[in-house]
Order: sequence, then structure tokens, then C-alpha cells
Amino acid sequence: MTALITISGLARAFGGLKAVDGLDASVGPGEVVGLVGPNGSGKTTALNLITGNLKPDAGTIRFDGRAIEAEPAYRIARAGIARTFQLVRVMPSLSIAENVAVGAMFGAAPCAPAEALARARPLIERVGLGDRAALPAARLTYIDQKRLELARALAGRPKLLLLDEWLAGLNPTELRDGIALIRSIAAEGIAIIMVEHVMDAIRALCGRCIVMNAGRSIAQGPTAAVLAEPAVIRAYLGDDDA
Ligand SMILES: Nc1ncnc2c1ncn2[C@@H]1O[C@H](COP(=O)(O)OP(=O)(O)OP(=O)(O)O)[C@@H](O)[C@H]1O
Ligand SMILES: [Mg+2]
Repeated sequence: MTALITISGLARAFGGLKAVDGLDASVGPGEVVGLVGPNGSGKTTALNLITGNLKPDAGTIRFDGRAIEAEPAYRIARAGIARTFQLVRVMPSLSIAENVAVGAMFGAAPCAPAEALARARPLIERVGLGDRAALPAARLTYIDQKRLELARALAGRPKLLLLDEWLAGLNPTELRDGIALIRSIAAEGIAIIMVEHVMDAIRALCGRCIVMNAGRSIAQGPTAAVLAEPAVIRAYLGDDDA
């Protein structure tokens, strides 16, 4: 299978700190891959490099047949990569419907505002905000702002969706619903890279995992096997406990 995205030798430092340090990874069309690793291992930085929110110091990213590592974020969104943020970024004074419509207007299938608002409606329903579409985003709880971000990402009709701890902070019922929602998105053929500390969700959703530690990928492969590798357990627990 030809990869949808191939990352080679990706690197980005902040001062002397190598946040991402030679990352290699690839994801196929429609595949759901977990990107896991301890706090500070470079997962969010990797997503920011993929989306063009940060520029790499070195390395290449090929998406859907073309190099994107030097492209600005808006062109990468147009190419078909959408995301949610670990620390939500909604437009607080715009309504929920308008926030989601912006995702449609600036995504892979751009359209005019009226059509964007029409496209937003079923997505707002889908993430469970159907009764609040006209409210300003600032009025939502943090968890509901994360739901809004997912609807906004989907409105762009991406080929690849990046989720940065989208399931964090959910109660058990919400987590079950959230996992079902992600599964339904994957069933539409959208590839997903999900950064997540909720390992039950990773096991439930991801056929394959990439484990990062100190900016590098230390293991990649089928989820159950990778999470059982001694190097992965050591990375999570620290050398003293493994
Ligand atoms: N803009 C920045 N300026 C300076 N240092 C940064 C910046 N962004 C990230 N870092 C540092 O780079 C390292 C990797 O951070 P990153 O946010 O990618 O980790 P992470 O794996 O997403 O962690 P977490 O699981 O806690 O979200 C950390 O040491 C972090 O402090
Ligand atoms: Mg992070």
C-alpha cells in the first residue's frame, strides 16, 4: 500500500532541546495510528510540524504524493490535513456554527460561507453540540470546545486527521462515546494519527502504534506487541522501575 504520509528524519529543536530528533514514520490511507510516549517526548511538536504550525530544522514530510514540509499551514490544511489541539484553540466570539464553518471554508474542499454553514450543521449534531449551534464558542465547557474542534476539523473534509489528546478529561461514559465517534470517522476512510495517554482507547482504536521518547521513535508496529516491548515500558516507567 502506498503511504498517505511519510515522515523521514524529522527534527526540530527549541534552543538546545531536541524536541523532535530524527523521527521516521508513515501512515497509510484510512489507517488509525496511535502516537504515544511519555510527557515531553515530542508528540505535540511532531503534530505541529506535520500541520505547518512549526517548521522543521531537518527532514521531509510527504503527504498524498507531495512534499509539504516547507508549506505554510493554510496550504497543508487545503491539501487535506486537519487537526484538533491539545490546548483548544476556538474563536471565542464566533458561534459554534461559525467556528465549524471556518473549518469548511479553509479545508480540503473550500466553499462559500452559506454552504460552509450548511455543511457545519450535521457535524455539530454528530459531536453532540446540536442544541447549541448558535452559542458563542466561549460559552462552552473545555470538553465541549474539544468537541467543537473535532467538528471544525471534519468540516475541512480531511484525508488525515490529527487528534492531540482529544479523549483526555472525559468521564467513562463520554470516553466510550468518544471512542465510538473516532471509530465512525475512521470507518469513513479518514486516516487518523491520535496522540493519546488513554491506553484503553489506543488499544481499542489503533491497529498500529508509534512510540516516541526524547524526540525519537523507539518502537513502531502492531499496538499490543509494541506496548509490551521492554523499551516502551522503560520509557513510560523510567529506568528505575522497569
Ligand atoms: N514552543 C516551545 N518552546 C520551547 N520548548 C518547547 C516548545 N514546545 C515544546 N517544547 C519542549 O519540547 C519538548 C517536547 O514537547 P511536546 O509538547 O512536543 O511533548 P509531548 O510529547 O506532546 O508532551 P505531553 O504528553 O506532555 O503533551 C518538551 O520538553 C517541551 O517543553
Ligand atoms: Mg502534547
